[in-house]
Amino acid sequence: MRSQIVAGNWKSNLTFQEAKTLIADLQDLKGSFPDDVKVALAAPFPYLGAFASEVKGMHLAAQNSSAHEMGAFTGEVHPEMLASLGVDHVIIGHSERRSFFNESNEVVADKVKRAVNAGLNVFFCCGELLEHREEEVHFDLVKEQIETGLFDLDETAMKQIVIAYEPVWAIGTGRTASSEQAQEMHAAIRSWIANEFSEACAENTSILYGGSCKPSNARELFAQKDVDGGLIGGASLSAKDFAAIIQSFA
Ligand code: PGA
Repeated sequence: MRSQIVAGNWKSNLTFQEAKTLIADLQDLKGSFPDDVKVALAAPFPYLGAFASEVKGMHLAAQNSSAHEMGAFTGEVHPEMLASLGVDHVIIGHSERRSFFNESNEVVADKVKRAVNAGLNVFFCCGELLEHREEEVHFDLVKEQIETGLFDLDETAMKQIVIAYEPVWAIGTGRTASSEQAQEMHAAIRSWIANEFSEACAENTSILYGGSCKPSNARELFAQKDVDGGLIGGASLSAKDFAAIIQSFA
């Protein structure tokens, strides 16, 4: 059985004090979270060590990790370092990393392998630009991201992978994919995983939707057969909205 997951991607937001307040507010609301929903918080790097003992009952995620082994790479943050702090998840291949920091599918694949080898669970992000959807090449584009990013892994390593489908035109724009558009892509992703690995692997892989997911649309999105939760940006900065999204499973 695959997990239902809601992950908050705080991106480059919040001072340390603001982040501590957000965690405290979420702790107050935690009693209302459904027991079977896994909740993860992707905080900025400098806060992770301090938060490892504060997130109790939730999971702590980083927003990126290095494609290189530990050593002479000034400024890099390596998955082994994250794991040693008690961080258990990392977001890799977010569209903002791909576009603003030129991360290619190949670099993303290296990061995934290294994070998996360090024992982290990976939120593997994929998704097309608006122009790809308009040109009707969005399935090809996402398939290529998945093939290059994940298909060198073995099936055991896939247990550490959560896929997040985030159409770039929906991220931070207020424009959400319709539940039909999300379901259609999630079903395609699951079929590619089944073909490459196995039906069981596809059935057990959680596929999250991300892109302007909020309390008003989460219920309909999460009700889709192949949508197993969400990767939430803007709405995860409000404890009330994030909690409402966590409560949005049927
Ligand atoms: P958004 O961001 O919810 O603000 O659209 C989602 C994401 O980038 O993960």
